[in-house]
Amino acid sequence: MQFKTIKYLSFFLLILAVSTLSLQAKSIRFRAMWRSNPATSMVVGWDQVSGNNPVFYFGEEDRGKNYQAYPAQQKPDKVMMAKGMNNHFVRLENLRPNTIYYFVVVDNEGVSRRLSFKTTPDNPLQRLSIVGGGDSRNNRDARLNANRLVSKLRPDFILFSGDFTADDNAPQWQRWFDDWQMTLGSDGRLFPIVVARGNHEATNKTMTDLFDVKFGDAYYALSFGGNLLRVYTLNTMIPSGGQQKIWLETDLKSHRNKIWKIAQYHQAIKPHTDSKPELNELLINWATLFHKYHMDIALESDAHVVKWTWPIRPSREPGSEEGFIRDDEHGTVYLGEGGWGAPLRNNNDDKAWTRNSGSFNQFKWIFVDQYHIEVRTIGTKGADKVAEVMDYNRFVVPQGLNVWSPSNGDVLTVVNRNAPPPPPEPEEITGIEDPQENPDGLGMDADNVETIIDEAPPESQVKKENDHGTINWLNIDPVKKTVKVRYNLTAKSKVDIIIIDNKLQEVTRATLQNQDPGPYIKTLDFSKIQDGGYLIIIKANGKVRRRYRVKKG
Ligand SMILES: [Fe+2]
Repeated sequence: MQFKTIKYLSFFLLILAVSTLSLQAKSIRFRAMWRSNPATSMVVGWDQVSGNNPVFYFGEEDRGKNYQAYPAQQKPDKVMMAKGMNNHFVRLENLRPNTIYYFVVVDNEGVSRRLSFKTTPDNPLQRLSIVGGGDSRNNRDARLNANRLVSKLRPDFILFSGDFTADDNAPQWQRWFDDWQMTLGSDGRLFPIVVARGNHEATNKTMTDLFDVKFGDAYYALSFGGNLLRVYTLNTMIPSGGQQKIWLETDLKSHRNKIWKIAQYHQAIKPHTDSKPELNELLINWATLFHKYHMDIALESDAHVVKWTWPIRPSREPGSEEGFIRDDEHGTVYLGEGGWGAPLRNNNDDKAWTRNSGSFNQFKWIFVDQYHIEVRTIGTKGADKVAEVMDYNRFVVPQGLNVWSPSNGDVLTVVNRNAPPPPPEPEEITGIEDPQENPDGLGMDADNVETIIDEAPPESQVKKENDHGTINWLNIDPVKKTVKVRYNLTAKSKVDIIIIDNKLQEVTRATLQNQDPGPYIKTLDFSKIQDGGYLIIIKANGKVRRRYRVKKG
């Protein structure tokens, strides 16, 4: 009798196990995009391989797969059979800015994996992390490495400037979206992608069918962080003049208030390999507008080499080369050129205005706040060895990340010369203990003051200085290994300059007694300090006045 019960019970458990398996909904190949304001909207797409009547359940609380507990639901707004996939899209609107939403897709067969996405901030006070690249078409290992790195870096979004697959066919696209799932965070976070068409996408329709791009010509613009940033996606596969040029100029004109502008498009105007043609038509139609309306960065692909330029503008004057000349004040920085998995080419076509070039699989990692844009080139090989960042420390280079370090420096910085004064903020340093008064070890005292050199700040910069301040990033002078810090004293003060490492240990400190009121620029010598990330704190009469972050190495 007892045996019989056990037998029935195990039979019952077997049935239960089988039915649980089949309760997994057949929605796969997830992707996130935008058709409107990235702070308040999201498009989520997926391939519904089987099952009927899928419904998208979502909300701000993580309810796991308990779909009935999610407060909102939406049916697909668009269904598009394309490239052998049953592409479903929900177009979510009226979302809250800078907010994580959790979701599941439920159909008559079951419930999908629980995933999440995050809307972007709606104001310029928060920094953005962006991955920019393209050309993922042939080498799947390289593509998977780059995808895994996206997962590790947890960016606000990805700029992808074309050439996804080699032949734009169904099996290749299905594999591409399978591989794209590797970009998801380990917690199921889906990072949105902003897509441009490359020459390996046979039609604009590929972009609208698979990514729900809003405009049939596949060129469009999106604004991030209120007036922080406008991103232009252009299409090199249709005429660059005519309607596209008119649209670009009209949009640039009506968004002069944006602090930063970034453009992405597939084909490089002046490729850094000699096996690709010069595209003077793009120079005339687009680069002249980039200069006229202060485009800060242009992200290019297609040539499968690595390059970044000094700031440049179109010119034929003496000193120019191939129609561009370096102009540090008013130029556009061109980044590129592909490298997400397409066959690499030789970087054998540098110009006078090339900052550095190379030939390896890579993408660009871009930080944008209202004071600076910082760009790093990330070698994507060995992604498995890279530590995953957390949402709160995603602007710190994680352990194992392969940051390119060429002769002209590993961080490309664009400075906002019209930056507003930093807003006041509490003097307490969240999450960081106040440094000890008398640390052991590498403590710097009055003897070390010679590492700090006085310098009179230029008038124009003095006016922008503020005693408070958000944490700004500083770059180490690659040759002298020094950084410059600024602060302003409103009364006679005792000033402490304290350097803290990323384990929150004080590395060194200088104390300057009886400093007169006024603006100061001090040069700090980092030559004897080992590689790593540091926080520099400037205190006046014991109160924090300025904080800076700096990374050496
Ligand atoms: Fe291409």
